[in-house]
Formats: sequence, C-alpha cells, structure tokens
Amino acid sequence: MQVDTAIIGAGAAGMMCAAYAGGRVLVVDHAKAPGEKIRISGGGRCNFTNLYCTPEAFISQNPHFCKSALARYTQFDFIELVDAHGIPWHEKTLGQLFCDTSAKDIITMLRKMMDDAGVQLHLQTSAANFAKHNDLFTFDLIAPSGTIPVTARHLVIATGGKSIPKMGATGLAYDIARQFGLPVTNTRAALVPFTFPDGRFAPISGVSVPSTVTAGGATFEEALLFTHRGLSGPSVLQASSYWQEGAPIAVNLTPAQDLFDTLRALRQQSGRRNLTTELSQHLPARLVAHLSQELNIEGNLADWSDKRLQDLCDTLKNWQLHPSGTEGYRTAEVTLGGVDTDALHARSMMSNDVQGLYFIGEAVDVTGWLGGYNFQWAWSSAMACARDL
Ligand code: FDA
Repeated sequence: MQVDTAIIGAGAAGMMCAAYAGGRVLVVDHAKAPGEKIRISGGGRCNFTNLYCTPEAFISQNPHFCKSALARYTQFDFIELVDAHGIPWHEKTLGQLFCDTSAKDIITMLRKMMDDAGVQLHLQTSAANFAKHNDLFTFDLIAPSGTIPVTARHLVIATGGKSIPKMGATGLAYDIARQFGLPVTNTRAALVPFTFPDGRFAPISGVSVPSTVTAGGATFEEALLFTHRGLSGPSVLQASSYWQEGAPIAVNLTPAQDLFDTLRALRQQSGRRNLTTELSQHLPARLVAHLSQELNIEGNLADWSDKRLQDLCDTLKNWQLHPSGTEGYRTAEVTLGGVDTDALHARSMMSNDVQGLYFIGEAVDVTGWLGGYNFQWAWSSAMACARDL
C-alpha cells in the first residue's frame, strides 16, 4: 500500500491531523475504536479545551516549544469547529469547556471529517518494522486479515503516552523516536492521585474540601478528595505533575478564611464552646473528627491559648504530607515527558534530523494542566503537523 501520510494512533491528535492532512492518508490503531480516551474523558462529556489556554499551563523541558502551535491553532479555533458541527457545549468552571450531551459528539465530528477527507482507518491493526529508505518510510500493517507492507512519504506518530495501559496505551512513540535517533526525556505518570501508606485517609474516603495544594513550587486551588488509597481531586491531580518522588506536599485546608481570628473572637464570646464543634463549622465534620486524632484536638476554646490556637491554624494552612507515591500509569490522566522537543521543529512537529517524521499530541514532552489543556495541545500540535504535510 502506498500513501502520502501514515498516521499511527487514532486518538485526539491522530484523528485531527488525519482530517486536515490532505492527500492519501492512512490511520492505524490497535484499538477496536478510535478516540477511546476522548470517549471516557471529562466524565463522558470531554473537557475539550479551555478558554484561558496559554503556554504557561504546560510543562516541558522547553516551556517555549508549545507557543507556536498553540498560537497558530487556538482554543477559539477549536470552539469554532465544534460550533460548525452543531455540538452543544458549556463552560463548567475555570474556563473548562465540556460537551452538553456526550464526548462521543467530538469523536463523531472527527470521524466525519476523516471520512469527508477520504482517510483510510485501520483499527485492530498494529504497525511494526519501521524503516526509512531514501525519502520513503516503510512499515508493516499487522491486521487480523494478514500483513500489508506500507510505504509513506510522511510518518506521523500520534500514539500518545503510557497512561491507562488497560486502554491500549503503549510506549511505541518513544521506541520509534529512539529508533530514529530522537532523544526521549524521562517520563512519569502525571495528573494522578497520591498514595499514602497504611490506608491513612481510608476512614475519611469520599470527603471533599476546597484546598490549595503545593508541590514543587506550584500551587493549585480547587477541591481535594480523600480516598481509600490517599488523596485525589483536581488540586491534588494538578500538584502531582510538579511533585518529585520523596518530597512533601503542603495542603492548605482553609485557603479562604482566617480561622485564627475567627476562633479567637469566639473564645472571647464563650470559652466553653467545643473546639472540634467550632472547626466543623468551617471544615467537613468527618475531616475534623479525623484531624482531632491526628493533631490531638480536644477540649473547649478556653483550653487553647493564643499560641496553641495559632499553631493549630498554621498547621491547617500548611499541612505537610509525605505521599509514598502515586497511583501510577494505571489511573494517570497523562504522561509527563516524552519525545524531547529539542529534536522537533516547534512550527511543524517534524524531526529536525529525519525529514518527514513527525510526533504530535501527548507523545511529545508537552504536558498540560487539568482542565482541557491536554486536548488543546492534541488539536494544536496536530494542526501544526497537518499544515506542514
Ligand atoms: P491518545 O492516547 O488519545 O491516542 C493514542 C492512540 O494511539 C490510541 O487510540 C491508542 O489506541 C493508539 N496506540 C497506542 N499505542 C499503539 C500501538 N502500539 N499501536 C497502534 N496504536 C497505538 N484531557 C483533556 O484535555 N480534557 C479531559 O477531559 C481529559 N480527560 C481525561 C480522562 C482520562 C481518564 C484520561 C486517561 C485522560 C484524559 N485527558 C483529558 C487527557 C487526554 O485524553 C490526552 O492528553 C489525549 O487523549 C492525548 O491525545 P493523543 O492523541 O496524543 O493520544
């Protein structure tokens, strides 16, 4: 089979690139259906972009790399596309845009665009034996029906990262990069819950509280969720992308209030008020009961001097916790790191040294915050590539 462009991976980036590539385009994916991560994303409603998408919301060894692609295909371009296909959407919070009905609307849109462009999609098919001879790439399609040799002028790798192997995530992009001499940065699970030893938070699993979480110098304010294994929720997932193994995280359980002033004033009115009862006015009661044991909180307000009260409030504002690890790729939303951006053209995603070889989407060392940023990177990097083909 001879094509102009072969795209490996029919996820967000691969489908978007295929729709706009032009010429004879082949897309290969080993999954049963395209866009499986789109389908499950955003709780089934796909948080497809973010109104406030800027390069500052992305982590990479080269923080400037993402700028060109993001500027040349913006969140507003994708919103226009979604609107043109009549997909209803809404802003949930913090600029996060979700489908009103279902994430499947985005998959249907991308599939229609691929069909209209005459793209050949081969599912339940893997690709192996990649090579480059003169100006042409060659590889084998390994389908249930047999093996088909392919030649292509352009080879686009859009196989994503390693998160959620159960859904077919593999490190193929990194293997192909290394095979063609492109470096790959260290990779690790990101946007992932923290684990703690001994089921420390199991008794309060399900409790959610607005908090700020700080790790590696980055602070995020959103909900924190206690789980059987440890901590999750948006503020925790965001912080996990900045966390270094073995380092502590700092949790502020009372970001919006000066608890010390409030409690001291209450003590002046009536020292006989029970401290845990008063704390329960400001924090979930189950959390207060748990903290009472962890931090030895008992007695009436009158029993607490200014110094002790201040120390307690400081602890609630700067609770130092030591995660034992993360839940890893099993539940991570994304992979941090990937194909080294130093080896790619920022304008096109093409390899600096291997003419015609492109890497797009999560496979590249560009990782967005939670909130639609990772899909925007998939759309923007795919368009940067498609415009160059
Ligand atoms: P993606 O992973 O989408 O696609 C890669 C494709 O390559 C897959 O179809 C896979 O089957 C295929 N593939 C892999 N290895 C292969 C091989 N060896 N051979 C053949 N095919 C292979 N982001 C966001 O912005 N908003 C959100 O709401 C969410 N929500 C969310 C929820 C959950 C549970 C997860 C796990 C992730 C998210 N994300 C997200 C992140 C987002 O899904 C992710 O960043 C993009 O899907 C990345 O798009 P790619 O196309 O790069 O990879």
